[in-house]
Amino acid sequence: MEENIETLQKSGRVIHPPAELKAQAYIQDYDKAYKESIADPEKFWDGIAKELHWFSPWHTILEWNYPWAKWFLGGTCNISYNCLDRHVQSPRKNKVAVIWVGENGEERIFTYAELYRQVNKCANALKSLGLQKGDRVTIYLPKIPEQIVAMLACARIGLIHSVIYSGFSAPALKSRILDAESKLVITADVGYDRAKTIALKPVVDEAIADCPTVEKVVVVRREKNGPALSSDKEIDWEDWLTGQSTSCEALQLDSETPLYILYTSGTTGKPKGVVHVHGGYMVGTYITTKYVFDLKDEDVYFCVADPGWVTGHSYIVYGPLLNGGTILTAEGKPDYPNPGRWWDLIERYGVSIFYTTPTAIRLLMKYGEEWPGKYDLSSLRILGSVGEPINPEAWEWFYRVTGSSKPIMDTWWQTETGSILVTPLPCVPLKPGSATRPFLGIEADVVDREGKSIAQGGGFAVIKKPWPSMMRTIHNDPDRYLLYWNTIPGCYTAGDVCHKDEDGYLWFMGRADDVVKVAGNRIGTAEVESALVSHEAVVEAAVIGKPHKTAGEMIKAFVILKQGHTETPDMIKHLQDHVLQELGKIAVPKEVEIVSSLPKTRSGKIMRRVLKAKELGQDPGDISTLDE
Ligand code: PRX
Repeated sequence: MEENIETLQKSGRVIHPPAELKAQAYIQDYDKAYKESIADPEKFWDGIAKELHWFSPWHTILEWNYPWAKWFLGGTCNISYNCLDRHVQSPRKNKVAVIWVGENGEERIFTYAELYRQVNKCANALKSLGLQKGDRVTIYLPKIPEQIVAMLACARIGLIHSVIYSGFSAPALKSRILDAESKLVITADVGYDRAKTIALKPVVDEAIADCPTVEKVVVVRREKNGPALSSDKEIDWEDWLTGQSTSCEALQLDSETPLYILYTSGTTGKPKGVVHVHGGYMVGTYITTKYVFDLKDEDVYFCVADPGWVTGHSYIVYGPLLNGGTILTAEGKPDYPNPGRWWDLIERYGVSIFYTTPTAIRLLMKYGEEWPGKYDLSSLRILGSVGEPINPEAWEWFYRVTGSSKPIMDTWWQTETGSILVTPLPCVPLKPGSATRPFLGIEADVVDREGKSIAQGGGFAVIKKPWPSMMRTIHNDPDRYLLYWNTIPGCYTAGDVCHKDEDGYLWFMGRADDVVKVAGNRIGTAEVESALVSHEAVVEAAVIGKPHKTAGEMIKAFVILKQGHTETPDMIKHLQDHVLQELGKIAVPKEVEIVSSLPKTRSGKIMRRVLKAKELGQDPGDISTLDE
């Protein structure tokens, strides 16, 4: 760990925000604003919540029954209403809400009024299927506008959406549909990836074969001559919306009404269904988008995430729309059809805020500075990074190629936290590689195992007080929720290792648990292990994360084969394909090593830590519990 800290902190330079940018920003004095917010966080959040529309006010700001929180009790609201109706009733009505660019160059533009109409039609179509408040809807779509429409339509009538990233395979999709007991699945015939057509509908067919709760499947049909729909369960998206009224009143929901379930990986083989609610999540995503990115009406905001992940939920869909922003979203990879793809979009649409990931930056770095150099990037004013630690080298490159004057907001947060918790604001001096300081109203700290604050040095990242956008529970598994608040006494444990420097700046170093971040995607080593052992040739498997130059980390699997099976290049490929079938492309181990034994404790637990140390040529630390 110490070694990583050294590499991350090596640049040591401090970059002050441009005076002009600071002068325009919503928050111009972080220290003062933070101090005030933290003196009385409930008062702070109360004031922020009042910037949004509530059908009826709350009587209690926070009910904190450790570790269960409820915010804005008694208040009624609807996040979809706040994303749409509020703007449609204002001069923003004909402002562009969403610009979508397809991989093939196709463009679709939605004003707030048009998005409102589409969402209302979709909400009415959902109602026409008899779906009722609290029912779950699985959205398994590629990155197309229907994803956004479907999410907002569910929210509008109190349905709970469960968006699944379209790269997941059938068994992974199935387990998530079963856990949520979804009544409806919304999908598309295909997605596109580097001009290849990826069939999605067959994945859904396979997944729902054993999902008794699924009553209907709605299919967005992108291919002109795609296959016909094959059973009465299936409905064409266009037919479904045709004839539906463009008006559908948003339900007035109690602020604690669940908005969505989003599955994320943990330390067991089973993903966790993180539950967020309308009221608190709306307040958190709204204010972080506003203050971190300083989002103004004139901005064009480009976030490269996919709504299949939390960044897409919070910072493509909800946060920016709550602020009445103009959002650019683009299907496809950063280097297809060429490495100028994103720089071209920035020039073409006059993007002023660009939120991306360290992995994408490192990928673009490999193609060289001439690519960004070909485009006019002068419209940019604020940059963002998320999902994994950004190494100073990538940070400096990103800063330099965009003009050396646009501050990078290195935003740290998690699926569970709902919104950004540690981040610079445009007025905060930056240190390349550090997510800097806690967001307003957030008491983040670095502590030891007992929960004692560390004045300076390395430890565990924790949050010491509840915040509005925190997850409320894990669907069907409240005990797993409790673990977050019981691991280190008195606080929420994020699972990250973090270093606090002499100025109180926070440097997130990576996970402290068996979770790997591959290209920013969160993968549980136990999930990959259980996929591997489901292969007929495998007795046992252990999976670790290993540093990787572009992706941050990569997956390496150690596998013990059953008698009668031998190591061949074919076998390794079979095992990789098997994980592809079971989980999806993002979880496939890049390296597979066949071994004859694995390091274990006397009680039989695999010591991944020891494997990792050996693989990286490091000292394995205390191995007194090792069996052999
Ligand atoms: O390890 C941290 C890392 O991503 C984890 C959360 O993953 P997920 O729930 O998939 O959400 C990703 C998008 C918010 C964290 O526990 N992480 C996220 N942002 C950063 C980060 N690590 C370092 N720096 C960041 N800015």
